[in-house]
Amino acid sequence: MSDEFEGAKTSRRSFLTGAAAAGAAMGAATSAQAAGDPLITEVQDWAAGLGDGVDASPYGLPIEFEKDVVRRNVEWLTADTISSINFTPIHALDGTITPQGCAFERHHSGAIELRKEDYRLMINGLVDTPLVFTYADLERFPRSQKTFFLECAANTGMEWAGAQLNGAQYTHGMIHNMEYIGVSLRTLLEEAGLGAAGDIRDKWVYVEGADASSNGRSIPLEKALDDCMIAFKANGEALRKEHGYPVRLVVPGWEGNMWVKWLRRIEVMDRPVESREETSKYTDTLENGTSRKWTWVMDAKSIVTSPSPQKPIAHGKGPLVVTGLAWSGRGAITAVDVSLDGGVSWQEARLAEPGKPMALSRFYLDIDWQGEEMFIQSRAMDETGYVQPTKAQLREVRGLNSIYHNNCIQTWHVNANGEANNVEVS
Ligand code: MTE
Ligand code: CO
Repeated sequence: MSDEFEGAKTSRRSFLTGAAAAGAAMGAATSAQAAGDPLITEVQDWAAGLGDGVDASPYGLPIEFEKDVVRRNVEWLTADTISSINFTPIHALDGTITPQGCAFERHHSGAIELRKEDYRLMINGLVDTPLVFTYADLERFPRSQKTFFLECAANTGMEWAGAQLNGAQYTHGMIHNMEYIGVSLRTLLEEAGLGAAGDIRDKWVYVEGADASSNGRSIPLEKALDDCMIAFKANGEALRKEHGYPVRLVVPGWEGNMWVKWLRRIEVMDRPVESREETSKYTDTLENGTSRKWTWVMDAKSIVTSPSPQKPIAHGKGPLVVTGLAWSGRGAITAVDVSLDGGVSWQEARLAEPGKPMALSRFYLDIDWQGEEMFIQSRAMDETGYVQPTKAQLREVRGLNSIYHNNCIQTWHVNANGEANNVEVS
């Protein structure tokens, strides 16, 4: 055997080893296995005896090792827990459905406990027959099932002036995405009869909740008749108390504040009420001091959830799954681009499945990371052709006075150790 042949053989073997290692990394295997990993070669405690019985927890919580996947507060934002907000741990979730157990909550006067038996929903105003529904009544109307995101208009609101909160949970966690079961609002309005309303194009509904804040909002009747839902189940089970048990309003694609919880009354009107929640709150003050109002639709937006400040790269160099979420209140997400160099160049990410209207889309970009510094961004596009703006573009139009409706492109700086931080690029 010639040296050359031997050399070729060696290099072929190392090529195979290299290929196996690359494949192994993809499959999350390591060379420890070859060296006699005790986790493989020895019988472990969990295999040597019995596990827990089936009735150990009749309603289950996540396994203790996942106890960090929880809602969190930003202390200086949350003065008290009554008029409060917390954040979904989007950095630690995957897929698109948000489990109710860790979905963010926002209450203006605390979460109330309302029994189904005590539940009443009134429809009054410009209707032919004012009606009151019990929970049992609602269950007898034809049902629909649809998945939608709910984003608070204040999501990312702290980032207008500069990069502030260090984590996707805090910058983008006022969002959840659930599969709702309920009755269409159109069905109930038609049950009451809209003859008295006349031309629906200039009419409104005023919706309010049973909590002390009531969170009243005016919604154009056209939207109410289009796709709004009276929901009583989310992700297959009853709404949690904090999400409006037993019934909440679902207003697809529109700001979360309009999704009234513990919904108690819907009044058909010939004008909007101009309530607190649609005048002094949830409006956007521009540079010249005037304010935008009726900014109901949540524009297209996206965020890289991993890597991100709370989810650094922990496995070192090699194959890296860059992933995140994208959504649009105007319809389905059609594409998401990812930049690793702060927006200089872009590559198209893979959508886990075709975008659904007004629901979260999951995107993935599989890269080979060799420890280089990255400025990771994502940019969403929706079916209307709208492209998510940069921070600079948004500030140019809206100035710096806004709190709500910040849908700009976010940047995470990733250093050679895989740590990520919230930064701005100009
Ligand atoms: N509905 C009532 N009745 N009371 C409220 O305080 N908060 C609103 C909206 N509906 C609120 C309400 C706001 S600002 C948001 S963002 C969403 O509910 C939050 O819904 P969630 O708590 O299920 O996440
Ligand atoms: Co809100």
